Parts: sequence; C-alpha cells; structure tokens
Amino acid sequence: MRETKVRGTKVRGKVRGDLMIDNGVEVLLYSPKDFRNVCVIARTLEVFGIHRCYVYDPNDLIRPSYGKRYSRKLRKISSGAFFLVDFIKVDDPLEFIGRYKKRTIATVLGNKKQVFLDKFRFVKSDLLIFGSEATGIPDDLVKICDKRLLIRQFGKTQSLNLGMAVGIVLYEAVKQIKS
Ligand SMILES: C[S@@+](CC[C@H](N)C(=O)[O-])C[C@H]1O[C@@H](n2cnc3c(N)ncnc32)[C@H](O)[C@@H]1O
Repeated sequence: MRETKVRGTKVRGKVRGDLMIDNGVEVLLYSPKDFRNVCVIARTLEVFGIHRCYVYDPNDLIRPSYGKRYSRKLRKISSGAFFLVDFIKVDDPLEFIGRYKKRTIATVLGNKKQVFLDKFRFVKSDLLIFGSEATGIPDDLVKICDKRLLIRQFGKTQSLNLGMAVGIVLYEAVKQIKS
C-alpha cells in the first residue's frame, strides 16, 4: 500500500514542541468532497493536539500547493491550522483499515448496531473513521471495522455536517483519553 505524506512535515520539523502533542487517537477521512470541511477538520484536529490525519482522497482535495483562491480559503477557514497537520494519503482504505493494528471505529448513520457516543469508551490509538458528505462510509469498510459509533440525534435532519461530527467525536475521545 502506498501512503503519500502531503504537507505539514516542514512545519512540524520546526521543533515547535507544543505541536508534538499526541492526544492518542488517529483519524481517517473517507473521500471528503468539500474543501471547506477539510479546513474545518484541520482546525479542529490542531486545536485538539492531533497533528496527523489519514485521508482517502479520490477528489484530490489535499495537494502540495494551491492557487490563490483556495489558499485564501484555506488560511481563513482553517486559521492556518491546515499547515500544522500532516495529511497522509491512503490509496486503499480497505487494506489500510484491515491492517491497522489497534481498534478501528466507523462513525455511521442508520441502524448498524452502533454504540452511542455518550456510552462509548475510547482507548489510545483508536482509528476514528469519518465518511464522505454525500454517501458516508461504504458498507464493505464498515463491516471490517471493530466498532460503530453514532452521535445521538434528536431532530429530523438526516445527519450532522462532517466537520461538526468530527469535532463532537474528537472532543469526547480526547477528553476521555486525557483524563
Ligand atoms: C453528512 S454525513 C454523511 C451522510 C450520509 N448520507 C450517510 O448516510 O452516511 C458525513 C459523515 O459525518 C459523520 N456523521 C454525521 N452525523 C453523524 C452522527 N450522528 N453520528 C456519527 N457520525 C456522523 C459520519 O462519518 C458521516 O459519514
């Protein structure tokens, strides 16, 4: 399997000790479609002290460099955090999840025998997987994950926004692992 590290390395290499915090969980984004969501997620990851993010990226949102319009968006929405996160591209998510040594947690909607987030116990090195905005995580990937996780919903809207879901799950995961 090929993994390509896209950015962040240089920034991390600047020995900003505070950037080296490891808050214990790993994140895999499955095929995000909206660049703004990726910027929001970068900001959230950075705030929670997580400086690595795996991404299956067929839409090629993560690039070594961007044009003016995207760069502006990127700086504004991520507040610069985009440059502080190592995005590691994963070509084959099925293989990646299959060979991940620790627990793999799919965040999924519908009735898939999920555990509610408020009952879930995270452990260090859990891989938290978030799906695409339109289609979520495909069933063949969900099937091979160790656990399924659902943020309890009360309204009529089908789901949370991807960036919001990442924020809610990470807040709880980091809180549990750090305490
Ligand atoms: C906009 S949702 C995808 C909706 C898609 N129609 C589906 O059925 O999965 C994008 C991603 O946000 C996360 N997500 C959104 N709401 C969630 C919830 N209530 N519980 C867990 N994850 C959620 C999941 O990772 C989901 O794949």
